[in-house]
Amino acid sequence: MTKKETKQISVAFVCLGNICRSPMAEAIFTHKVKTLGLSKFFNKIDSFGTSSYHVGDDPDFRSSQTCKKHGVPVNHHAKHFEPKFFNEFDYVICMDESNLYNLNERIRSKTSTKNEARLFGDWNTDGKFKTIVDDPYYGGIDGFEYNFQQCSYFSEEFLKQELDVEL
Ligand code: 4NP
Repeated sequence: MTKKETKQISVAFVCLGNICRSPMAEAIFTHKVKTLGLSKFFNKIDSFGTSSYHVGDDPDFRSSQTCKKHGVPVNHHAKHFEPKFFNEFDYVICMDESNLYNLNERIRSKTSTKNEARLFGDWNTDGKFKTIVDDPYYGGIDGFEYNFQQCSYFSEEFLKQELDVEL
């Protein structure tokens, strides 16, 4: 069985607040999946924060502004990542080492899951961008633009590597 014939997959993107990086990653990834005609391979694409600080909030305006500038629609309200999501998503994909620690060492221990969170930059196999998607919250709009470029590239690499498709 090729990767293309396996069951539909689900992806959760995770950052700290779920208002800057992970809603951007979700929006970019969803847009690529749709425009590349790959929707049939997915049953769930969503995003969450390891903290509950911003639950219910719209994405940070710098994040949505950057996505809109590139023609990528954003439609999300912040949600808190729950331990059970390790069992509900095939891929739990986070942005930096702090997210990774929180997910795998703290949240994961509350479940019996074999699933493990990974960095989005794990799919950056040729090192074209920095592997870590840095927290842009206290910086300027340039940080959001770099996050956008990283997430776009990592999304394409994920699709190529996990679905075995040529883009
Ligand atoms: P995010 O960015 O994790 O990419 O959503 C942040 C959003 C809010 C805060 C930190 C990072 N905060 O400290 O409120």
